[in-house]
Amino acid sequence: MIKIIFSTKKPEAKDVVFVSLSEKEETDIFVAPDGRRSIVIGIGKKKDFNRRKLIIAARKIVAYAKKNNIKKFSINFSDFIFGNLKMTNGEIAEILAVNFEMANFEFIKYKTPPKIGWKFIEEIFVICDKTRSIKNSFVKGQAIGEAVNDCRVLANTPGGDMTPGLLAAEAVKMAKNTKIKTSILNENEIKKLKMGGILGVSRGSSERSKLIILEYKNGDNEKPIVLVGKGITFDSGGLNIKVENGLKDMHMDMSGGAAVICALVLAAKLKIKKNIVGIIPAVENMPSGASYRPGDILKMMSGITVEVVNTDAEGRIILADALTYAKKYNPRLVIDVATLTGSAMSALGQRASAIFSKDEKLISLFRELGEESGDYVWPLPLWDEYGEDIKGTFGDISNIGKSNYGGAITAAMFLYQFAKKMSWVHIDMAPRMTSIEDDFLAKGAAGAPVRLLIKILERI
Ligand code: BES
Ligand code: MN
Ligand code: ZN
Repeated sequence: MIKIIFSTKKPEAKDVVFVSLSEKEETDIFVAPDGRRSIVIGIGKKKDFNRRKLIIAARKIVAYAKKNNIKKFSINFSDFIFGNLKMTNGEIAEILAVNFEMANFEFIKYKTPPKIGWKFIEEIFVICDKTRSIKNSFVKGQAIGEAVNDCRVLANTPGGDMTPGLLAAEAVKMAKNTKIKTSILNENEIKKLKMGGILGVSRGSSERSKLIILEYKNGDNEKPIVLVGKGITFDSGGLNIKVENGLKDMHMDMSGGAAVICALVLAAKLKIKKNIVGIIPAVENMPSGASYRPGDILKMMSGITVEVVNTDAEGRIILADALTYAKKYNPRLVIDVATLTGSAMSALGQRASAIFSKDEKLISLFRELGEESGDYVWPLPLWDEYGEDIKGTFGDISNIGKSNYGGAITAAMFLYQFAKKMSWVHIDMAPRMTSIEDDFLAKGAAGAPVRLLIKILERI
C-alpha cells in the first residue's frame, strides 16, 4: 500500500514531485532550476469535470508518475474540489485513494525484479487543512483499492496455479483472522447435495471441484445477503472446445468468484453490520474422455433437468446449483457475479457490466452505486418471453438459447429458472473482466465489480 502523508504545506524534500491539475488536455512534466520536478495533469475543462473524470485523473497521476520513475509526489487536495462536482471531501478522498491504489498495481508475481527495482509509487503527500474526515476516507479508500487488487491477483494467476482446490485454499487464507467462517465442500459432499450441474461440468477435468462457502455473521438475526460467484478456474469450452483467441484469458473465468471472495473479506475488515454469505462453485471445464457431452442431460440440485447443447455454456450450469444452494439461507437478496457471456461484451463493449433483475428498484440502485463506485453497470431485459428461447427438447431446459442472438439475456433467463421467488440480481461481468487502455490500469484483470459489491453491502 502507498504511504499517505498529510500536511498543511508543501513538503520540502527535493525528491517529492509536485502534482497539479490543468484545464489543458495534455499532461506535462517540468524541471525547476533547483532540480525539483513537477507534473501538470491535463483534465480538460473544469466545468465538464465529474466523478467519472476524477477516477481517471487519479489513475493518470499515478500512471504518469510511475512512467517517469517517480516514487513520491504531493497533491493539493483543494485542487480536486470543484463547485459542480457535487461530492463531499470524504467522497473525493475515497475516490482518490481507491484509484491511486488501483493504478499502482502491477501483476509481478511471476516476473524477475528489474535491477533498478519496480516502478511503484511509495509515498503521496496530501496537502490540506482540515484533515480528519479526509484522512478516514483515505484509509477506507486504500482498503477498497487493496481488495480490488487482491481480486486482480487471484484472477490473473494462471489456471495451472489457480485450480479449484487452490482457489479454495486462497479463500481460506484470505478469510483467516476475520469473522468469516469458511467451509470447503469436496466432491463427495457435492454429490450428496445432488448438484448434478457442478458434477457434470467438472467431469472432464482431473481437478476435483469444490464448493467454497464463506459465512460472515455480524447482523443479529437479520436475513443474509448471498453473493454467488462463478469460479471456473479455466474454461477451455469442454468438448465444444474454444478456438484460438477464445482460449486466451480463460484462466480469468473465476473472476466473479474472486470478486465475491474479496468483497466479503473487505466487508469483514470494514466490520459491516450485516449477515453476508458467499458461495463459489469452483470447477475446471476441460475436454477429455470423461467430459460431459453435448446431448447429456443433467439433473440439477433443484430437480430441473438441463439438456447440454453446448459444453461451453458451463457457467450458468454451475451457478444454477449454487443459486439453489443459496435458498437454504432464506436470503433477503441474492447477487450473482459471473464472466458469463461474450454476448454481454457484444452488447455493451468493455465499459460496463450487464445487469438483470425482475426488480426495477434494485436495477436503479445498482446503476446509482455503479456510478458512485466506478464499476459501471447497465441493464438488459429479463422478460418472460425470453423463457421460450431456452425450452429443452428432451430435458426441461436447454443450456443455450435457440436463437443466435441475445446470448447474455438467454443466459440470464437460464439462471432465473433457479432464482425464482428470491430477490435476485445477476451481474454479467464478462465485459469488465480485463482492463482496457482507457482505464489507465495494468493489463489483465480489472478487479470488477468489487467496488460496486462493497457499496451494495454497505447500502442495502
Ligand atoms: N466464460 C465464457 C464467456 C466469456 C467469454 C467471458 C469471453 C469473458 C470473455 C462463457 O463460459 C462462454 O463460453 N460463453 C459462451 C456461451 C455460448 C456457448 C452460448 C459465449 O458467450 O460465447
Ligand atoms: Mn464457456
Ligand atoms: Zn465460462
